[in-house]
Amino acid sequence: MRIAIVGGGYVGLVSGACLAAHGHEIVIVESDPNKVKLINQGNCPIFEAGLPELLTKTVGKSLKATDRIEDAIAVSEASFIAVGTPFDGDSIDLTQIEQAARDIGGALKNSSSYHLVVVKSTVVPGTTDNTVATLLEQTSGKKLGVDFGLGMNPEFLKEGTAVEDFMTPDRIVLGGNDTKAQDKLAQIYDCFANTDKVRVNNTTAEMIKYASNSLLATLISFSNEIGNLCKALPDTDVTSVLAGVCLDKRLSPIMPSGERITPEITSYLAAGCGFGGSCFPKDVNALRKFSAQHGVGSTVLDAVIDTNKKQPEQFVQLLNESMPDLTGKTVAILGLAFKPGTDDTRESPAISVIQQLLNTNAKLVVYDPIVDSLPPEIASSEISMAKNLKDATSQADAVLLVTAWEEFHGLADVLNAQNKQPLVVDGRRMLNPADFDQYRGIGLGPRTQNDKPDGNVASAA
Ligand SMILES: NC(=O)c1ccc[n+]([C@@H]2O[C@H](COP(=O)([O-])OP(=O)(O)OC[C@H]3O[C@@H](n4cnc5c(N)ncnc54)[C@H](O)[C@@H]3O)[C@@H](O)[C@H]2O)c1
Repeated sequence: MRIAIVGGGYVGLVSGACLAAHGHEIVIVESDPNKVKLINQGNCPIFEAGLPELLTKTVGKSLKATDRIEDAIAVSEASFIAVGTPFDGDSIDLTQIEQAARDIGGALKNSSSYHLVVVKSTVVPGTTDNTVATLLEQTSGKKLGVDFGLGMNPEFLKEGTAVEDFMTPDRIVLGGNDTKAQDKLAQIYDCFANTDKVRVNNTTAEMIKYASNSLLATLISFSNEIGNLCKALPDTDVTSVLAGVCLDKRLSPIMPSGERITPEITSYLAAGCGFGGSCFPKDVNALRKFSAQHGVGSTVLDAVIDTNKKQPEQFVQLLNESMPDLTGKTVAILGLAFKPGTDDTRESPAISVIQQLLNTNAKLVVYDPIVDSLPPEIASSEISMAKNLKDATSQADAVLLVTAWEEFHGLADVLNAQNKQPLVVDGRRMLNPADFDQYRGIGLGPRTQNDKPDGNVASAA
């Protein structure tokens, strides 16, 4: 099918490239001319495993980009809205959604055939059927359900494994204002014949996405709360506690063969320095505000956010307890991306960690394997960027591990090769405490007598 995708960011570009690889003809409509240029040259504007290869395969054949929405809509049977939906500090900011709806509506004015508009962005329940439907009707002069249909198809890909997630989906949610819209949306996903599909109305589709993200965020904050208690208990280690919890067969089922399977959800039962990124914080916050607007309490979600906000502070406290005066000390911060496998630093816990260390008179050195510049929130001359792990740690009195990049498993070897034994503070519990002279980790209680940390290494969510 010929499809326009409005918004060529993490979701729009990955969805577009994957659908193009499945035989659809995709036009990405992107307002950033630099991204349009890069995509049309076959160059990938983001760091995402497998995406450059997919662009090489599809650009110029079944995938192209443009900033001219009229041209794209004129040749398309369906369009997806995949623009950003940030949290503005109070509630969800729908500016980009509204603009995209107006642009599509304007482009549909002269259309004579049925067109399906699908909201893929994460939007609070009711947005598709109210805000988007109204704007489309106003700007196109057409009638919903007659001239055009409206679908809601939330996206569940994860940055870092986005292509794999899109290509092997666990579910496809097909929201629609009526059966005709659902049928047309289902047709687009016919190429995923073996995937479970959920046919619902648009509001339910919107709610499924928020409930999914809120559940995962809740597991992380739950783990962090347990970890903070373990930290206060002598000889207790959150990684052992949660490893024991995850052996519950309702979390990791034992098959009739006796083999145990470890579902990915257990990786969210891990303590760390908090969740970040462009989804969990903003989505949980948007749902809290939405609940309040409906006179419904959100006690659990309030606590999820509260715990998460404090988690980078819990992490820096480990440093302060072991090194109370940072004057003249060099502190290496490992990781800027909000999680491994992506160059995305939106709401990264690293930002909060670094903000706490500014004005402590410590020399800050930051290293991330992929991100090579500081996010705007912390752009500061006080901070230097190292080119590799060795340079980052060569002068370090303390090393703070914030992002669970695979490369950081080699920290002990890098330090040993330099004959260095700085204080190591592990915000992701991915290191073996026994490898370091001075080790502090999230959720690790004080050691008494000869008790050694258990050495369970958490799976990093
Ligand atoms: N990033 C994720 O992992 C992820 C996963 C699932 C769902 N989502 C949701 O998907 C949506 C998009 O997220 P993202 O991370 O891809 O955002 P993003 O900021 O990376 O991309 C949005 C893109 O849309 C473009 N844009 C904005 N308004 C436009 C317009 N009117 N016309 C053309 N282009 C326009 C922007 O320039 C940008 O390139 C959000 O609602 C997000 O919550 C994101």
